[in-house]
Amino acid sequence: MWRKVLLWGGMMVLLALLLAGVWLRAWPDVEMGRRLAENNCAICHDLSETRKHKKGPYLWGVVDRAAGSVDFAYSAAFLGVVQERPFVWDESHLQRFITDPALFVPMTRMAQRDSAHPLAFEGIESADNRRDLIAYLRRLK
Ligand code: HEC
Repeated sequence: MWRKVLLWGGMMVLLALLLAGVWLRAWPDVEMGRRLAENNCAICHDLSETRKHKKGPYLWGVVDRAAGSVDFAYSAAFLGVVQERPFVWDESHLQRFITDPALFVPMTRMAQRDSAHPLAFEGIESADNRRDLIAYLRRLK
């Protein structure tokens, strides 16, 4: 009898833990997003309020900012896309760009290597990582 109670109790606890895990994962992890941004973006983008340009434009306030709107020497490829069909960096545009920048903006400098900047950014595959990253970008204001 007690064995059964223990067994069922144990199973209920496991189920509760599992559900809590699923529930937690449904929310973006901003701290994980910060680490992803430091590791994947900060080499080319200033993430601070200082707003300095690096290889790319500063990202302070980027969420809901009009694309191509800060005083930065964007590539002709980037300006071509942005001027033809202006948009703001909302969740869905950021998702598309960060998944595969060159697919969204062919020939964007973000995905190009050159002699001054041998690094190129090819995108973040994991949907969870992109969501965490964008949640962190939202805090940059
Ligand atoms: C290898 C350098 C490099 C890396 C790494 C990089 N970027 Fe960029 N990014 C650029 C460059 C260069 C541009 C300007 C694009 C152009 O002119 O073609 C840019 C442009 C952007 C823009 C457009 C901003 C605007 O003012 O319209 C966003 C948004 C962006 N990057 C986000 C990110 C995020 C988020 C990451 C990290 C996941 C990242 N980038 C990683 C170089 C990089």
